[in-house]
This record gives sequence, structure tokens and C-alpha cells, in this order.
Amino acid sequence: MKTFINGTLWQDTKGEPIHAHGGWILFYGGWYYWYGEDRRSRYYVSCYRSQNLTDWEFCNHVLTMDSKMEGYRVQTKLQLQNGDGGKVNLERPKVLYNRKTGKFVLWAHFENGKDYSEAAAAIATCDTPDGDFTYHGHFNPYGCMSRDCTLFQEDDGTAYFISAARDNADLHVYRLTDDYMNVEALVHRLWQGEFREAPAVTKIGGTYYMLTSFCTNWAPNQGKYASAPAMEGRWSNLSDIGDATTYGSQPAFLLQKDGRVLYFGDRWGGDGEKYFTSGYVVYPLEEHEGKLVLKPTVEAAL
Ligand code: GAL
Repeated sequence: MKTFINGTLWQDTKGEPIHAHGGWILFYGGWYYWYGEDRRSRYYVSCYRSQNLTDWEFCNHVLTMDSKMEGYRVQTKLQLQNGDGGKVNLERPKVLYNRKTGKFVLWAHFENGKDYSEAAAAIATCDTPDGDFTYHGHFNPYGCMSRDCTLFQEDDGTAYFISAARDNADLHVYRLTDDYMNVEALVHRLWQGEFREAPAVTKIGGTYYMLTSFCTNWAPNQGKYASAPAMEGRWSNLSDIGDATTYGSQPAFLLQKDGRVLYFGDRWGGDGEKYFTSGYVVYPLEEHEGKLVLKPTVEAAL
């Protein structure tokens, strides 16, 4: 078992850096699959797996500039390179397993690689958790901008896509179709004008909690959270969590393991080459009578 220091770039079982930023963990078949951004070379999304959350074995570059592209029912733009043959941006990838179709469905934030004007949602699928995903393109849900994003899956399989809209001013919650290949309803426009991004959702004892950050590019800021009795229920106002920099991090996702809730965050390096120095944090997230508390630890609380 390894220990990882919060805020640093961790290593996989071969001693290589783990590039899975703005990521997500899916538990499937006894394994934790960690997906995230990998901006090296021609890669977009890489996948690692572990059974104990500390020994991470590299699996595959699941989405790259060379991934297979295939249109799928919904009208999307199939574009894994920009007009100059350069890279696009696929940020904050999240993956769910769809029990009805047997597919692993990935949602991410798409940009053209030059600026942040596309503000679109991208989708890709695969028959296995760590195989080569097929890219199905990007689109703007109901014509809306869609930037920082996450997914949430209910026990009954109903899933939601949550993303920053209207130049990040509002946070939208979309219910997905039962194959997870499209949105079927815009169920919330949360906290209009509060510019929340980096959403991460979990459910504790029947209550839903959503953590978000403010918008200050790569710099960390004051995290906030809200709660609701149901995803489509009424969400509370925002309350602070952590300190003015959320202990040097921006939310990536929340994971429940053995009765504990783990907050995974990114400590971003910045633009250009600095991006590749971006590290990870895992802090324990505790709930006391409806209030959430984040515990800053030096070592990752894995
Ligand atoms: C952050 C966002 C990141 C990335 C970055 C680019 O606000 O959470 O995912 O888009 O801006 O500056």
C-alpha cells in the first residue's frame, strides 16, 4: 500500500505519473476505475484501476485524437482535432455503466483547443470499462453552454448530467435518457448568477449533496455545498466548505467507500507546461446533522 501526499502528482504501479485530472472513479466488477484528463501526446482521457485506491495500474488511453468516431442518433459534431489538426480539449470526463444497454458511457466538457467558446458536452461509449472508447461527438444541450460537468447515478439507474451554463453563471441539472446518450429534461437551473463550477455530487443518508467551486480559472477558491431531498427536489442555498482555497483544491468528484465519503480534488498547476505538474488531493468529507465538513490532511485519505 502506498501513501500519497496531497497536492502532488501521484505515480502508478510502474512509477509513471498518473494523468487523470478533473477525474472520476467508477466502481465496477470489484475494481475502481479512475478516468481523467491526460493532455500528453495525442491522449485525451486515460484510465487506471485499483482495488485498494492506492496501487493504481495503468489500463489504457481510452480516448485519444485517433479514437474511432461514430454518429449516434442525436445530432452531434464529430471532431477530435481542430481545424489545424491540433488537439481539442476534453475536460472533466465522467463515466457511468448503463445496466440497460451494457455500455460504459462517458460525458465530458468539449472545447476547440483554442478558446472556451464551444462550451459543449461530449459523449463516448465502450463495451468494457477500460477499452478503446468510440467518440460520438459534442453538442450543446437544448442549445445551452455546457462547461465544467459531472454525472450522478441513482440506485434505480436514473442518471443526471450537471454542467455550468450561461458563461458559468448558472449550474444546470439534466436528467439523461435511459441509455445515457442524451439529455431528456432540464430539471434545474441552480444558483443563477453565482458562477459555480466543478460540480461533484453524492448522497448521504437519503440527502443529496453537491459541492462546487467558484470560477477563478486554475486558482483554487472557496468551495461551497448545497443539499436537496432529491436530485429533482429543491436545492438549498450555498454554504461554505473548507477554507478560502478549499485547502488548495478544486472539486473533481466524491467517492463513497466502506462508509466513508472521500473528496477528490485537483490542485492545478496552471496553463501550458505547468498543467502537467497538477496534483491530486483526497480529503475525508464528513456529514454531521446535514452539515458537511472537509478535513485537510497531509496524506491522501485513501
Ligand atoms: C477551471 C475549470 C477547469 C478548466 C480551467 C481552465 O475553472 O474548472 O476544468 O476548465 O478552468 O482555465
